[in-house]
Formats: sequence, C-alpha cells, structure tokens
Amino acid sequence: MQGTLRSLAGSFAGMPGVISLTAGFPPPSLFPFSSLSLRLHGVSEDITLTGATAVAAQQYNSSLRGHPSLLSWTVAHVAALHAPPSPHQVLITNGANHALELITSLFLDRGDTLLVEEYTYPVITESICGPKGIKPLPVPLDTHGIVPSGLRRVLSTAIQDAARPGGSPRPKMLYTIPTGHNPTGCTVTPERRREIYQICREYDVWIIEDDPYFYLQWDETLIQSMVDRAEVDRCGGAATADDSAHAAAAAAAAGHRARGLASTTVTTDLGTLHASVPGLTGLYHAAAGSYGPSGVATAQLPRSYLSMDVDQRVIRVDTFSKFLAPGLRLGWVTARSDVIDKLTYAIHAHTVGPCGFSQAVVSGALTAWGDAGLDAHLRRIQAEYAKRCAIVVAAAKRHLTGLAEWTLPRGGMFLWVRLLGINDANEVWPALKEARVIVCPGYAMHAGAVENPSVTSPCMRLAFSTVSEADLEEGVARFAQVLRRHVGGVSMPNGGSSAVSFKPSAVGGT
Ligand SMILES: Cc1ncc(COP(=O)(O)O)c(C=O)c1O
Repeated sequence: MQGTLRSLAGSFAGMPGVISLTAGFPPPSLFPFSSLSLRLHGVSEDITLTGATAVAAQQYNSSLRGHPSLLSWTVAHVAALHAPPSPHQVLITNGANHALELITSLFLDRGDTLLVEEYTYPVITESICGPKGIKPLPVPLDTHGIVPSGLRRVLSTAIQDAARPGGSPRPKMLYTIPTGHNPTGCTVTPERRREIYQICREYDVWIIEDDPYFYLQWDETLIQSMVDRAEVDRCGGAATADDSAHAAAAAAAAGHRARGLASTTVTTDLGTLHASVPGLTGLYHAAAGSYGPSGVATAQLPRSYLSMDVDQRVIRVDTFSKFLAPGLRLGWVTARSDVIDKLTYAIHAHTVGPCGFSQAVVSGALTAWGDAGLDAHLRRIQAEYAKRCAIVVAAAKRHLTGLAEWTLPRGGMFLWVRLLGINDANEVWPALKEARVIVCPGYAMHAGAVENPSVTSPCMRLAFSTVSEADLEEGVARFAQVLRRHVGGVSMPNGGSSAVSFKPSAVGGT
C-alpha cells in the first residue's frame, strides 16, 4: 500500500469504471479556451486543436515526463537520430537551460569542478557554476573542438590535485557543445568524438552533451563553395538565380554602392541550397551512416555522443528553441532511466512540467508536418543560416583578411575570429562603440573569466543569425575599420585582395 500519491493513483490506470477522487486539478469545463487554431508554414489549412487536446493544453500534465503525444514523437525521433546503444529514456523539459540547471543541481555540489571547453556558453559559467560554487575546469579547444590530449592532461592534473589534502574533488562531468559550438562555431569531428568518449570512459566522467545547433548543421564544403561563388559575383560574374533572395542581395549591394561601399553578395539559388543542406532526411541518413539524397555529404555529418554511449554516461540535452522557436521554452533530455527519474521529480518540483500550451502547439505542428514537413522546414532554416554564414564569411574575407583569422562554421550561428596583432580584444571595445557595431569579446565567454575577471582573449564572436545581409556586410566593414585603425596597419581598398591566406586558425588563447 506504501507509495507516492502518483504511483498509488497510477496503479488504477486503465481500470474501467474507476471514480477518481484523488487529483486536485481544476475541472476542464471551467477552462477558458475551447480550441486552439494554428497556422503553419507549408501547411495550407489551419490546424485546430479541440476536445481532449485543448483540455490537455490547459490541464496540469497528466504524465510527468511530458504530454504523451510529444513524448512519443521525441522518443521515436531520438531512436531514429541517435539509436543509443544502451537503454535510455526521454524527458520533456522547459528548454536546454532548464535541463542544464537541473542536471548540474542534481550531480554537482558546491566545491565540485565541471570540465568545460576553454570558451563556453556563458550561462554555464556565469549563471550555473558561479552561483552554485562549482569551479569550471577549462579544456583546450582547437578548430576541431576539444583537444583529446588536452582533456587527458586536465583530467590527470585534476586527479592529482584531488589526491592532495584540501584539493578539489576529481571531475565527474564534462559539459560540451559538439555542433556549431557557442561561441567558437566549431563542430567536433567524428574521430575526436570517439576519442573524447573513450577518455571519458577511462576516467569515468559523465558527458553532458548540449547540442542545440544539431539541427542547424551542414556539410563542411558548403560554405566554402558559397564564399567562392560570392567572389565570382563580386567580380561581376554570372548570377546563379533569379529569385527573391537574389533580388534582396542585389538591393543590398545597390544600397552599399550608394553609400560608397563595395558589396559582397552571396547569390543563392534557394532550390539548390535547400537540396544541399541535410534537412531531416540527411540527419537520418547520417545517423544510419548511409548516403542521403544529397550524396556523400550527409554520411559525413558527425554522430552524437549519445549514439556511441555504450555505458550510459551521456546526458544529452536537446531543444526546440533553435529549430522551432525559443519562446516555446521546450526541449528534451535523454539519459539512463535513474537520471531521468531524478530529473522528472526535480521538474515536478520546479514547474510541474513544461507549459501545456507549448507542448500542444509543438505536438500539433509536428503531427501536421510529419517527417516530410519537418524535413522541408529544417531545409528552409538550414539554408537560411548557411546563406547568412556564407555572407559573413565572405564579408570577413573581404574586410578582415590580414586583421583576423577564422574557421568556416559547419553549423550554428557564430563566426569566431582571432584578431591578429591584438592580444586583448577588449582594447577595441570603446572604438567599436564609437563605430556603432557590437561584436562579443572572447573574454566574456572564456571559462576562466568567472574565477579570474582579468582574463584576456584575442578572440571575438560574430553572430550572423538575425542581421540583414546589408548590415552583415556593413557590420563587418565597420569592425574591420576599427581594427585597422587600432593596429595602425595598411588600409585595404574595398574589394582589394590580401596577401594573407584565408585559412583556418586555431581557436583558444589566453
Ligand atoms: C550552447 C547553448 N545551450 C543552451 C542554449 C539555450 O537553449 P534553450 O533556449 O533551450 O534554453 C543556448 C542558447 O543560446 C546555447 O547556445
């Protein structure tokens, strides 16, 4: 007879003729909304959620792990995309930050350490580690992500330190962003992922795989080929499409010329671009290790840590924020069952589960779209991000060559640049303000900055996700002008080429 209220009531589930006097829930007849209507891109008729679906959207969650329809979509989706090789379960959360807060609260105590990439998502260091008294342990990064030998070195030093009286406890967890890393834009190669996973096994370290940009990735050659085409366009070469994107690019270019600025345009045939990005099918093919409709490319997309997790040490954090909308505040966590159980109770205590309206809306959209609709939606957003990325890289090539180095992003929203001849990017901050352009200084995303506010970094992050084509060009041009003045270097004419090669560089620093 002993059990939690939920488990006692749950033992009646499916029994016919039960009169339940247990739940302190409001009566659905008093809910204000009788139906919800949604209009979706790519679906001609409105979707209307009525009856039990409308009630479920307004009622407390019937299942603590998430609305059954959304949960079952998520479970099937995780199985198809990651096929975890050991048993895992799924839990719907209020987005990735929420999950990260809960995971670190459950696993880490004040005084513990957390392995993080040398540059990392500042929410982890500032808003989670700082207030909780957790010490971030920076692990070196290069253009391919975490450097395995660096991880090994940090771990063995930390273990020696833990053995000393008064030393910090040995690290239990690695927090990592494997795709389109925030802030460095890098995507960890498949070989690196395998090595990192093996090191974590060897040192018995859990992996928190925070992968919000998983759905915003593309083949590594895509951006380079678009940038090469941008060069052709700039030289007056043939435009490749007569579409609205081209018209917008041409208008932007005209605007620049009117202001005396030569313009970098990336002319895109959106049809070709949509076919060149992975979509959902490409991600599925990559998961299966097979060749997708767009050829070799999709088979080369790296697979997740979850997909290689033979001993249940991965806690994978996904979010709907970057491929649907952040305002929904929804995501999901995949981990072994005891971890999911603990997180489920924590979520129950925090929020009684994610917002019912959001879950109903997302579930309604995913059902209406089906895989084909989601594939089209993902292609649309991947193509748009890839295009903006190519524009910012082409603008960087044009304006920043000789002033900075960068790596071509394979996904995400960020171009990470390392300034040449400037060791502390902060030095240019006042001049950026004067030039009215904001670029994030690297120190603010350096894992050591919470402990040591005097950390300096020669790197800066350019976010290309929300800026118009014209503003991307002009923003980079203004940035370059500031840098040029600062280093007192030779000014390059608009459109001029540089003797300095356009090559990937190591990220990291200080
Ligand atoms: C690495 C990383 N994790 C998590 C998040 C937040 O995701 P969510 O909106 O799901 O909380 C972001 C958003 O910028 C991010 O860059």
